[in-house]
Amino acid sequence: MPAGGHPVARNASFARLTPQHVEHFRKLLGHEVNSVTYATDPDDMNLLPYNVDWIKKYRGQSQLVLKPSTTAQVSQVLAYCHAENLAVVPQGGNTGLVGGSVPVFDEIVLSTGRLNAIRHFDDVSGIVVAEAGVVLESLDNYVGERGFMCPLDLGAKGSCHIGGNVATNAGGLRVLRYGSLHGSVLGLEVVLADGTVVDMLRTLRKDNTGYDLKQLFIGSEGSLGVITAVSLLTPPRLPSTQVGIFAVSTFEDVQRLFIAARRHVGEILSAFEFWDRTSQQLVETQLPTAGTPHLFDAPFYVLLETQGSDADMDREKLERFIERAMDEQKPLVENGAIAQDQTQARAFWETRENISDAATTAGACYKYDISMPVPVLYDLVNDAKAHLKQKGLYDSAQPDQDPVRFITGYGHLGDGNLHLNVVARDFTPEVTQAIEPWVYEWTQRHQGSVSAEHGVGFMKPKYVSYSKDEHSIRIMHGIKAMLDPKGIMNPYKVLQ
Ligand code: FAD
Ligand code: MLT
Ligand code: ZN
Repeated sequence: MPAGGHPVARNASFARLTPQHVEHFRKLLGHEVNSVTYATDPDDMNLLPYNVDWIKKYRGQSQLVLKPSTTAQVSQVLAYCHAENLAVVPQGGNTGLVGGSVPVFDEIVLSTGRLNAIRHFDDVSGIVVAEAGVVLESLDNYVGERGFMCPLDLGAKGSCHIGGNVATNAGGLRVLRYGSLHGSVLGLEVVLADGTVVDMLRTLRKDNTGYDLKQLFIGSEGSLGVITAVSLLTPPRLPSTQVGIFAVSTFEDVQRLFIAARRHVGEILSAFEFWDRTSQQLVETQLPTAGTPHLFDAPFYVLLETQGSDADMDREKLERFIERAMDEQKPLVENGAIAQDQTQARAFWETRENISDAATTAGACYKYDISMPVPVLYDLVNDAKAHLKQKGLYDSAQPDQDPVRFITGYGHLGDGNLHLNVVARDFTPEVTQAIEPWVYEWTQRHQGSVSAEHGVGFMKPKYVSYSKDEHSIRIMHGIKAMLDPKGIMNPYKVLQ
């Protein structure tokens, strides 16, 4: 059984890597430094970062990492893998949270780390064409210097690649304002399993020439081909950003605050994030040197951001909104602060963005990424606590020995997206079986999705049916079989 969990067997139709294969890849790419990393021991220090995922839950056994630097090289690599029946895992920044980016067995890792050119920028429309391996933060800086911003932002921006973002259809912190990548991505260049290069790299906002094939690859998690370049519509970077953090007493008040925010600052609202007390405590205790501000104690916190064109007006508007929220007969907000400058605004954001790392630092972090109707969003956290307590794993008379140490909830409230994190002492079958499929059954009962934004990866193929009907899954299998008939692209992931 592979490290990280699910009992799958290695697909015997895949070839084992031989010295001849490695020799061939060296001929294809080897004249470039670091383009081929090979070792007989998958635990070799040079391979480990590619074999182990971000949360250290999944661990593969690959002996070979390839880093092509051009689309033509990706095509040659895949054509050869296809001919030789060698399985491949595309990997970007390896920040994925569902075990999709690392091998399960001995699949070859195809890293996009060297596909990192920005090919084109149109400063009238803000459309940028970038290769898949460009780090999101670098792309944002690039368009930022030209007066634009990436519509996508997430805590992993310093490591994740734009190709990985598109492959996971990553959501992040500003979907509320700028929508999902299904809207912002205008075109893709993709290499299919047999090496065919499909050029869909359009830079048009309108193009109704039949089926919109690029959409198939947005969120395909490496299962249909390798994305080598992305054409992305970036919005103007507005001169005024205001950020506030607010203490809220109940989850009902968090919702009331959201409704009020949409009504009173809706036209400039760019993010509405929430987290609970445990999340805040985790950030403060696990990452004490991260420099995030110590906040007032509260059951819930909301980070609200506005982006607009007039700093004085936007600030006044936000202040008036907060005063009103505090003055209500039943105040929506107990306490709060609006950032005085960009440094403080950044520190507020870091508090929110550090929750993920804090939870991972605290122990073995089981991450559930659920979308559902907002009114029931936090019920899942309360029900998970009750469920795991009833199983004797959490909140017992001897908490020092409980297998589960923390249960937290945070996320993108504006998108109806909860991150339930169950932090255990270790990843064990006992804890896994207590949470799964319970958490997915709960989600299904509440008409939610078992993956809001992180994807399916290796973690959830057997739970996709909790959110998709049998015909949809049959069509997905059909598409996979058509584009990757030998199943060499990211096997054991997404579909089972
Ligand atoms: P990887 O992790 O390398 O790969 C992810 C998947 O995409 C894998 O299945 C891989 O095979 C495939 N893939 C990668 N590159 C390609 C390619 N070029 N072609 C085809 N397939 C490819 N996600 C959110 O949605 N919202 C968030 O707010 C968010 N915040 C995060 C915060 C932190 C601290 C971390 C660690 C992760 C976060 N994530 C979030 C998870 C998110 O999926 C990733 O951060 C990001 O989108 C993945 O990009 P990557 O380059 O690291 O891809
Ligand atoms: C987030 O919103 O912080 C990310 O999706 C990462 C996570 O869920 O931990
Ligand atoms: Zn998220």
